[in-house]
Amino acid sequence: VKPPLQWGGRFTAPPDPALLAFASSLAEDLVLAPFDLRCSKAHVLALQGGDIVKAKEAQALHDALDRVAAEIGDGSFQTFAQSSGAEDVHGAIDARVRALAGETGEILHAGRSRNDQVATTLLLYCADRAVRGGRLCSEIARRLLDQAEIELERKTLLAATTHWQPAQPVLLAFWLAGAAEPFARAATRFDRSRSDAMSTCPLGSSALAGSSLPLDREGAARWLGFAGLSRNAMDAIGNRDAALDLAHACVRAVAAASRVSEELVIWCTPAFGYAHLGDAAATGSSLMPQKRNPDPLELVRAGASDLNGRFAGALGTTIGIGLSYHRDLQVTKGAVITIVERALETLEAFARALAYVEFDAARMNASADESYTVATDVADTMIKSGVTAREAHRRVGEQILAAERDGASLDWPTAAESVVGKATAGSTNPSAVAAAIAALRERLSL
Ligand code: ARG
Repeated sequence: VKPPLQWGGRFTAPPDPALLAFASSLAEDLVLAPFDLRCSKAHVLALQGGDIVKAKEAQALHDALDRVAAEIGDGSFQTFAQSSGAEDVHGAIDARVRALAGETGEILHAGRSRNDQVATTLLLYCADRAVRGGRLCSEIARRLLDQAEIELERKTLLAATTHWQPAQPVLLAFWLAGAAEPFARAATRFDRSRSDAMSTCPLGSSALAGSSLPLDREGAARWLGFAGLSRNAMDAIGNRDAALDLAHACVRAVAAASRVSEELVIWCTPAFGYAHLGDAAATGSSLMPQKRNPDPLELVRAGASDLNGRFAGALGTTIGIGLSYHRDLQVTKGAVITIVERALETLEAFARALAYVEFDAARMNASADESYTVATDVADTMIKSGVTAREAHRRVGEQILAAERDGASLDWPTAAESVVGKATAGSTNPSAVAAAIAALRERLSL
């Protein structure tokens, strides 16, 4: 019976099972299995390129790895891994390859350390998830822009706020297109994370010092799709910058979703009544029969705070640990994976929930005309006729004071007129909004 561990020759006692279980990373790194397979196949190329294995042995190793890939696909590898006693997914794959390829399987690990595997595999995983994150953010932006176009057509108005106090009328389309902007930036961040992850390949670092075996690092890196090779093995196996950058991109994207969610939660309250979340996305109360709660949006909101805390934790595990690999980095890896997986789930749920939001245009239009929202336009009109800004501000303020005191209504422009009257690029003027929507679509190739 082969020992499940990849070491032990110099040990005289078996590991304490409780401590082995404590140190296992299998539960969190099983998700890396398909990426370790690619990494392992690339290592076979590196061995073959250096003539360390012959074509026949290389073929046997590829066959075994392909078989493991199929077993990952049908779930049987996961079952094997969990009962294998391996310390991590890399050890489990190694054990399975040795079981499948016999003697030849024993060569696979030549010139390679799990440190190399952890670093390389994590980068491949990050690149894959960065693509997903970018797609999700583009999709969210697209949905918001589609909705913006509909509302632009309907000319729906919104009493936009600062400090949650009515500020000025805008088009709802302006708000929707504004909500899309951070997701375009988030998509760019995901793009950058992807190319950072794929910039230099650590495979062939051979634990920390490089190898005395003539590994074909270049061939392996090219096959994996990396742009180049890591320059310093010691740095390469301890570097988690790209993983942390991706985790950061994830937190930022969910933070953008949390702000939109918060506003929609408030708009869905009867007091505002601007929006309605369809029944399929809302939940009821087990006690209060009348309730309809916007839970998915609240969970997005809380998710951002939670991920923010987890990000601080992930970064924290890399602080002060010295160069090269230290076991702390196993915790970094688990934390990054948790952040990334949760963030992608959250963005997906957010995109889904958005589709259930309906706006009450009549209610929004009516409130856009309330609370003196056009006061700034009235002051601007005075300024155009030569009154100073300070004087105009004072006069309009006094009109409001008098109207509030007498309960009189002011003969002021409507919210719709205010919106059309805006003249600057990037404003809520309907043609500026249409131009901004078109420009954002072009930037995202939507
Ligand atoms: N389970 C470890 C991790 O995920 C693998 C690397 C272990 N390397 C070592 N030298 N102990 O980070």
